[in-house]
Amino acid sequence: MTDTAAGQIDHVFHERRLFPPPAEFTAKAVIRSQEQYDDLYQRARDDRDGFWKQEAEQHLHWFEPFGEVCKWNAPHAEWFVGGKTNASYNCIDRNIDQGRGDRAAIIWEGEPGDTRTLTYNELKSEVCKCAAALRELGIQTGDVVSIYMPMTPELAIAMLACARIGAIHSVIFAGFSAESIADRNNDAQAKMVITSDGLHRRGKVLPLKVTVDEALEKSPSVQTCLVLRRIGNDDVPMKDGRDVWWHDVVDKQSDDLPAEPLDSETPLFILYTSGSTGKPKGILHSTAGYNLWAKRTFQWVFDHRDDDVYWCTADCGWITGHTYIVYGPLAAGATCLMFEGAPNYPAEDRFWELVEKYKVTILYTAPTAIRAFIKWGDQHVDKHDLSSLRLLGSVGEGINPEAWMWYHKKIGGSSCPIVDTWWQTETGGIMMSPLPGITATKPGSCTQPLPGVVPSIVDETGASVDAEHGGMLCIDQPWPGMLRGVWGDEERFVETYWATVKGKYLTGDNARCDKDGYYWIMGRIDDVINVSGHRLSTIEVESALVSHELVCEAAVVGRPDDLKGQAIAAFVTVTDPNPGEELRQELRMHVRKQIGALAQPDDIRFAAAVPKTRSGKIMRRLLRDIAAGREAAGDTSTLEDYSVLATLREEE
Ligand code: PRX
Repeated sequence: MTDTAAGQIDHVFHERRLFPPPAEFTAKAVIRSQEQYDDLYQRARDDRDGFWKQEAEQHLHWFEPFGEVCKWNAPHAEWFVGGKTNASYNCIDRNIDQGRGDRAAIIWEGEPGDTRTLTYNELKSEVCKCAAALRELGIQTGDVVSIYMPMTPELAIAMLACARIGAIHSVIFAGFSAESIADRNNDAQAKMVITSDGLHRRGKVLPLKVTVDEALEKSPSVQTCLVLRRIGNDDVPMKDGRDVWWHDVVDKQSDDLPAEPLDSETPLFILYTSGSTGKPKGILHSTAGYNLWAKRTFQWVFDHRDDDVYWCTADCGWITGHTYIVYGPLAAGATCLMFEGAPNYPAEDRFWELVEKYKVTILYTAPTAIRAFIKWGDQHVDKHDLSSLRLLGSVGEGINPEAWMWYHKKIGGSSCPIVDTWWQTETGGIMMSPLPGITATKPGSCTQPLPGVVPSIVDETGASVDAEHGGMLCIDQPWPGMLRGVWGDEERFVETYWATVKGKYLTGDNARCDKDGYYWIMGRIDDVINVSGHRLSTIEVESALVSHELVCEAAVVGRPDDLKGQAIAAFVTVTDPNPGEELRQELRMHVRKQIGALAQPDDIRFAAAVPKTRSGKIMRRLLRDIAAGREAAGDTSTLEDYSVLATLREEE
């Protein structure tokens, strides 16, 4: 268990408050009684196939019906075998078929304040045009398309256009470096990259296309680059025979391209995420099961109703954006606000201005943002009328009880339930969460598993442990939204998730379950750190650091941070005998260039040696203590003597 986890355990052990849902919320809720939930949960557990057969038939469109519901040959699952469906059809056409064509699907606001609303009918036209353009540019079913774009409607349109023709999208968060883009292009053998001439970020323009150009020099599989004009920057160099403008090829296409009937298990997307090695892995999700999981979890957890204006503040570059901006809410026919900018531009009240302006009813954001709002001060919130809000959500990391209370009181006016949703890129959608109409919440707990989720808590040998004490969190049964593999790396898929406990999915998180059956996530069991809700592997950052010519060795750990949850602390040994601020800065920039700004270390300490065990493993626990300013053993406030300290530790 990590040290941060230990701190958290201490903290949440003292958390005793209970917040039952307001009666008026329960009265109108989608799931409004414990019996209703118990019935769903028990049916899903005891008659898995019967339950999901009914769900899939009722909630997805089928061009051809499926036969077997779940073919489970651990760790390989096939859901809705032999059926034909299409995620783009489910998210768009099905809503139109059911009379929701004129409903706003996406209400978008750009960072500079420009706005656009797309009804389901309009979204269909745009997606069809984009899909036809992809076809014209040679993209076929099964081809991989990388998407590196700002949070514009075209990002969602591009994802859905891929889905429409059975191409596999691989969205790369627009903060990643050229190196990271190239790595992902190469791993997935992407045939195309979709990008834009630039991205607005806090009043500045980031030259996305320039970064992509650099990446494409090292991405031989990419034949075409489709470029959206977002900034109006015509100076962008366009390479003949490779680069095409979105407005030249997309706008002229027909606005009606039938969705391709696709086999249930057709890959829908790859999303790269950090694991415990240096190389991010391409998590693979497929069509029918993922789409159904996205839709149903959205409906259950966010208690969606027809007149809701739902806003998930994530970026489509992460799984939260995939599942809860695009595939879940759209499949449910929701009206989604999509926002391009930052929460503090042009001022720290931007989010609250948007909530007021669009009368947002459901807000889904991250603890790191909540902590920033607290720091910026209540005056930014007080300026706005937030009375439209009826439900609040949290995702990405555990929410500390102080942030929970502030969110509850200040944003929710003490009357909105909070759903603290636990899940992962791999799980496709939410796995544990309060159901807002029935669950009495405890600040800091993601409460209970959703129907279809059968968790267990085990030790290193796979044996069940006392759940109250805590251990490794596993999922015992397959569920429709589960990952189908790690792209191109079967061995890693098996090793990472299925080898520790035979037949069970190992989540990589520690958890405990209290006597009321509430789950508390206690942090990672591996070398993954969570910086502002984003997953990073310490080894990935170490590899980036050692690729600098002056660095001999690097050890990276997470340390607690009031805003980000965890900050990155790096201990490096260098060949420069007198390293100083300049080199520190250079190394920060180097990591930024290798991975992206989100991986830039907060602390860099130069050291004489990196402490290791006799078997050569970095002593991360010791470094975590030092990085956090905790007493490790004796005086560790200076690092000069930590090789000695390491020796001491080994002798213990
Ligand atoms: O450690 C858990 C933490 O984030 C990890 C998953 O990260 P990622 O795949 O990037 O997906 C983030 C968005 C779903 C988990 O293994 N995590 C996520 N949500 C929570 C959480 N930890 C505690 N409570 C949560 N609500």
